Amino acid sequence: PIKAFLFDLDGVIVDTAVYHYQAWKRLANELGFDISEEFNERLKGVSRTESLDIILAHGGLTLPDEEKLELASQKNNWYLDLVSRMTAEDILPGVATFFSQVRKAGLQTALGSVSKNAPLILERIGMSAVFDAVIDGNKISKGKPDPEVFTKGAAELEVRPAECVVFEDAVAGVEAGKRGGMFVVGLGSPEVLTQADLVAPSLDVLTVDEVLAKANARP
Ligand code: G6P
Ligand code: MG
Repeated sequence: PIKAFLFDLDGVIVDTAVYHYQAWKRLANELGFDISEEFNERLKGVSRTESLDIILAHGGLTLPDEEKLELASQKNNWYLDLVSRMTAEDILPGVATFFSQVRKAGLQTALGSVSKNAPLILERIGMSAVFDAVIDGNKISKGKPDPEVFTKGAAELEVRPAECVVFEDAVAGVEAGKRGGMFVVGLGSPEVLTQADLVAPSLDVLTVDEVLAKANARP
């Protein structure tokens, strides 16, 4: 049976996915090209350095490592500027209700985010003490779609992957959960999150009982 829920942060708990996109778009524009919302799906859940590589390749640019470091830090500064204005009001609809159901059901929780800024964001939205384990970009060596961020979360909670449900908004994150051997709930569009076991537009329309029933019925 399911014992733990593992949550991505950006785009699941809080809408920072939009801020990542805005900051990357600004960077691309300064480099002389643009990135679309559709292209941005490829960046979701992917680490900062890998995202930059994907963007530069899209713009047909090859740059020395030094310059890439500078661009990545420029993007992060713009991103942090947007994040610094965040409060608990930026928590996505349905998250608070869902988490109270999670507690009542006696489930454990972990955060599984590739973001190095995850602890800062949790603090800004007042959710630092909510998770039983927090695995973020500072604790892992391989980003999504590698399952490391979720398998580490399961290990810290002392549960098996088959006892976990992953909540993800990113194609790379859904793949990470599946590769980790977990039941994956995709939050977004079924046309985009094709690998997910269950897809809903957001946590707002899901109940813990419904997710547990589907995940526990998995063959
Ligand atoms: C998450 C986001 C990505 C972001 C990555 C690294 O996975 O979905 O869009 O690139 O974290 O975030 P960071 O805050 O470390 O730049
Ligand atoms: Mg995400």
